[in-house]
Amino acid sequence: MKKDTIILGIETSCDETAASVVKNGREIMSNVVASQIESHKRFGGVVPEIASRHHVEQITLVLEQAITEADVTWEDIDAIAVTEGPGLVGALLVGVNAAKALAFAKKKPLVGVHHIAGHIYANRLEHEFVFPMLALIVSGGHTELVLMKEHGDYELIGETRDDAAGEAYDKVARMLKLPYPGGPQIDRLAAKGEETIEFPRAWLEADSYDFSFSGLKSAVINKIHNAKQRDLTLSAEDIAASFQASVVEVLTEKTYRAAKEYNVNQVIVAGGVAANTGLRKSLEKRFSGEDFPLYIPPIQLCTDNAAMIAAAGTISFEKGHRSLLDLNANPSLILS
Ligand code: KG4
Ligand code: ZN
Repeated sequence: MKKDTIILGIETSCDETAASVVKNGREIMSNVVASQIESHKRFGGVVPEIASRHHVEQITLVLEQAITEADVTWEDIDAIAVTEGPGLVGALLVGVNAAKALAFAKKKPLVGVHHIAGHIYANRLEHEFVFPMLALIVSGGHTELVLMKEHGDYELIGETRDDAAGEAYDKVARMLKLPYPGGPQIDRLAAKGEETIEFPRAWLEADSYDFSFSGLKSAVINKIHNAKQRDLTLSAEDIAASFQASVVEVLTEKTYRAAKEYNVNQVIVAGGVAANTGLRKSLEKRFSGEDFPLYIPPIQLCTDNAAMIAAAGTISFEKGHRSLLDLNANPSLILS
């Protein structure tokens, strides 16, 4: 009988210090996330230097907790998977160095993982992949459509030309004086508002799967400024609902069109913005009645965690990929 593959995952690319143990790329044995959101809130966004310091403080505790909760020994662990990029370099370095130290001390193979591959593989913790598969990745740093024909094979078919979807959410939230991270705040307000303002939709060229959110962000900012100058009060709920309607419509339509053109057998959604209730509803509605499934992971697997890194790392490990002990953090790592 084939032995189980047990991988320890480590994620420190942004403001979450996370470690997790995953069995066979699909079964979460532990998933520990120490969030730093409270520390960054008063600055209105992630402060890289503060993020690195918190990772240093938390990483050992989080790793110990992940191993204790999984109830495994070092003997059981086959390899250590770590996010090598993209992300904040100082933050990434903490995870990469912890992983290298453990790999050296415990004589375990080391596997570097792309953060977006992790977001995609968060879905495999819930449902097995069926190829060809289309992944919509929407996070604070990324907005991408990725076509996968087999495990570990990523073809980028569309990406943002400027701001990421989550970045647009966070910037608009800041204009509305909402606390960081702004995405969930806008989502909450949007649910109470009406789409009373017609904001632009950036469809770009007819055959393009690329995205652009900076024009929309400027349109929202202009609307707020103009109202202020004329002493008018706009409802924050309606601005949120109108902004969200624009983001959600473009994401939904481009994903749907790509799914049809590439004749996929499955569509998955990943990244922090996949937690958005408006986007989840819109995609579910658009894809209902299709003969292939749409999967969106539960919210705790949409935002940054290490189970997703262990899940993606399992595939790399099984394919024989190994990183050396000179592995470095790469803030602009390409998904390949
Ligand atoms: O994937 P993630 O946790 O970190 C990155 O890799 O970037 O995504 C964080 C992003 C932030 O921009 C946050 O505002 C956004 O995801 N986000 C949301 C929601 N929850 C988190 N955006 C819209 N609606 C939400 N409910
Ligand atoms: Zn992320």
